[in-house]
Amino acid sequence: MTHSTTRSITRRSALAAAALAVAAPTTFAQAPIVIKFSHVVAPDTPKGNGAQRFKELAEQRSGGRVKVDVYPNSQLYKDKEEMEALQLGSVQMLAPSLAKFGPLGVKEFEVFDLPFIFKDQAAFRAVTEGQVGADLFRKLEPKGVKGLAYWDNGFHIMSANKPLHKVADFRGLKMRIQSSKVLDAEMRALGAVPQVMAFSELYQALQSGVVDGCEGVPSNFYTQKTYEVQKHTTISNHGHLAYAVIVNKKFWDGLPADIRTILEGALKEATAFANDMATKENIDDLEKMRASGKTTIYTPTAAELDEWKKALMPVHKEMASRVGQSTIDAVYKAAGFVPAK
Ligand code: LMR
Repeated sequence: MTHSTTRSITRRSALAAAALAVAAPTTFAQAPIVIKFSHVVAPDTPKGNGAQRFKELAEQRSGGRVKVDVYPNSQLYKDKEEMEALQLGSVQMLAPSLAKFGPLGVKEFEVFDLPFIFKDQAAFRAVTEGQVGADLFRKLEPKGVKGLAYWDNGFHIMSANKPLHKVADFRGLKMRIQSSKVLDAEMRALGAVPQVMAFSELYQALQSGVVDGCEGVPSNFYTQKTYEVQKHTTISNHGHLAYAVIVNKKFWDGLPADIRTILEGALKEATAFANDMATKENIDDLEKMRASGKTTIYTPTAAELDEWKKALMPVHKEMASRVGQSTIDAVYKAAGFVPAK
């Protein structure tokens, strides 16, 4: 390199640095607010699609002032770790299942896991969209977490490598559950051995026989391919799966008010979208599981379901001391559930 070329490069670098110095304050002022939205399921699920819709609406309506980075499939964190990451501010937004709030110290959320408590989706939504849902969200605030929306993902079904028709079929089966103590009691009431496990480990655990079976929703069974290693599926609808879209409270409270309003609007639409997707995808994914021929899909008879109910309903009383009778009563009332005397 000649002396004059070196000089001209040096001069160009100096000019570029000067230009950057002038441009820098503007660049920083325009840096978008980044929301890292972490979740544990596949992108093509009701939650995955809801998160994507939220991203699109938030980015579009904020004119690029907000950037939402969605991390699906436990890419960043597994179930328990993502809660801790949210509290620490390493991520700003999550949508964990309501069955995963116990480790955060808010056990009342486990009321949603009580067997057969919601007769349909309308009953679930009457709870989450009313005062009970708002009261539960308030309990998150001392933990540094703010609840923004509930997303419905339909009813739980069961799977294993043996037919699950009668309660006796569960005897001794190792069943993977989410971290909820109510789900632990539910599996014990059926005579099974519950095993808490992160969602990201489920497929491997079923395939290798670490656990024998699990409960879940069709959209998760299908996208995680668990049905390929579970010969039998029973449409028991004995439990319900839903999510709370939550944010780091300090982050949320520190946002400019107009941005918060935009995000609230985006989330409202994303919520309606995710709920619609839940209805549709769970039906479609169950049909795809059936069509695959890899698992039988069994609908229990009324008598069989009565037997399940008989075994499972005592869990409501058993778990009152953990969940809180007043929370249970409030949910019964809003959901129109009448407990047997
Ligand atoms: C599970 O762990 O089975 C579910 O909570 C996963 C999910 O987020 O749907």
